[in-house]
Amino acid sequence: MPERFYVTTPIYYVNDVPHIGHAYTTVTADALARWHRLLGEEVTFLTGTDEHGLKVARSAEANGITPQEQADRTSARFREVWELLDITNDDFIRTTEDRHTVSVQAFMQAIFDNGWIRKGTYAGLYCVACEAYYTEADLVDGNCPIHGRPVEWLEEDNWFFELSKFTQPLLDWYEANPDAVQPEGKRNEALGLIRQGLEDVSVSRTSIDWGVPVPWDEGHVFYVWYDALINYATAVGYGSDSERFAQWWPEVHHLLGKDILRFHCVYWPAMCLAAGIEPPKKLAVHGFLLVGGEKMSKTRLNQIFPADLVADFGVDGFRYHFLRDTPFGPDGDFSYEQMVTRYNTDLANNLGNLLARVATVVTKKCGGIGPAPSPTSPLADVVAEAYEATAAGWQAIAPSVALEATWRLIGAANAHLEANEPWKMEPGPQVDAVMGDALEVLRIVAVLASPAVPRACEQVWQRIGLEGTPCDQRLPEAAAWGAYPGGLAVEKGAGLFPRIQAPAAG
Ligand code: ME8
Ligand code: MG
Repeated sequence: MPERFYVTTPIYYVNDVPHIGHAYTTVTADALARWHRLLGEEVTFLTGTDEHGLKVARSAEANGITPQEQADRTSARFREVWELLDITNDDFIRTTEDRHTVSVQAFMQAIFDNGWIRKGTYAGLYCVACEAYYTEADLVDGNCPIHGRPVEWLEEDNWFFELSKFTQPLLDWYEANPDAVQPEGKRNEALGLIRQGLEDVSVSRTSIDWGVPVPWDEGHVFYVWYDALINYATAVGYGSDSERFAQWWPEVHHLLGKDILRFHCVYWPAMCLAAGIEPPKKLAVHGFLLVGGEKMSKTRLNQIFPADLVADFGVDGFRYHFLRDTPFGPDGDFSYEQMVTRYNTDLANNLGNLLARVATVVTKKCGGIGPAPSPTSPLADVVAEAYEATAAGWQAIAPSVALEATWRLIGAANAHLEANEPWKMEPGPQVDAVMGDALEVLRIVAVLASPAVPRACEQVWQRIGLEGTPCDQRLPEAAAWGAYPGGLAVEKGAGLFPRIQAPAAG
């Protein structure tokens, strides 16, 4: 049986159109999914949209449309942008789908039947943007700590999940699973929240009807977060296909931004325990992408949209930048100038240049036919090391680390060419030896870099005369030195990553 890998992104709210923050998480999940497919694992990669709740209802009202229309329109925008970015999700879940209603009702009914849900009245300070209650102490200058916007007083008869009773079980779970939440700083943040002591949380609303009905109490709908989190279970068959659920659930890896750490790292594991399933295997939390040091938001008018950057840098240029430039964990500041620099250095001058040089020399000095690598090339060791480090980086959900390792290999191949200067040699066995080794590095790089820059890697693969695609290859075999057969027609073609001129200052 092949291993399984189940990876998820948050499901995004449909009140906002996709920007580079959403893309950051989704591209990371996509690259991980692609890496695990290369390893020969069975992969399920899930993304989708979060369509219920007050925030969506209000945004629809402001746009003069129904919540369902709002959801349909914006959900389509997310799908489009993921297609644009070559995202290979296996499923796209919408919380307004019937399969999700069934699953949410079954999941919450299980918690209810297990005795962890009671009736109560809730009154408190509510941030609609977060869809969350806050205490006075949480507020910053009287405003929501996340959005900096005023909170409002809300009072209603609710069903309560007895989260308070899960303080100790959660602490036990954290202790038994020290790697479940990463990085460590985020794990400590979550532990801090739990240690403060947890209060029961309201899980239903009567004030709106845009939600999943509470099965045991007509007139109540589930509070949007208790509907949303369950999407991860819905998609692998919770409440509909128990065999499928049993296969996939133990392998779940959630990627998320730090804005929703509390829901994912405190509430969600507790809900899982209460429903009688295992909490998630992995919760990988990343920081915010900032623009000019500030959080992106519709109200600040500082959102950056993927399509605009794709127009300048291409799909691979976009993907590479966010995977390589912003380590997964801390906040990162987006800068266009930095993106130009990174593109020119890593993609144009390093990977693009390696292919161009190899193809040119093979055309001129080897009659356009790529020679085979030498079994004892000094580059074989460099490849072995690069593979180990690349694999370790992806395994650790650290794409920037993985790509740095792959790019060290590209750098080593360029340095090898510069040291040997095959372009100055006469045609013959010496040129063939150098070029065979360089072609072999290109073959391996095309596989290792394909999770990040799939289009470019396909190009490399074709240009050096190989059949199929890098994505069809299987690791670790495909990274073993010596598989480039030689005797293949190498095609020169156009530059892989044309250099980009930095925009003039001002
Ligand atoms: O919170 N930098 O949806 P959402 C990095 N529906 N990542 C960012 C980002 C930024 N500036 N802005 C957004 C919700 N993200 C809920 C989730 S899940 C059961 C329900 C990414 O549309 C990041 O992954 O507000 C963040 O956690 C997510 O988008 C929030 O998306
Ligand atoms: Mg948000």
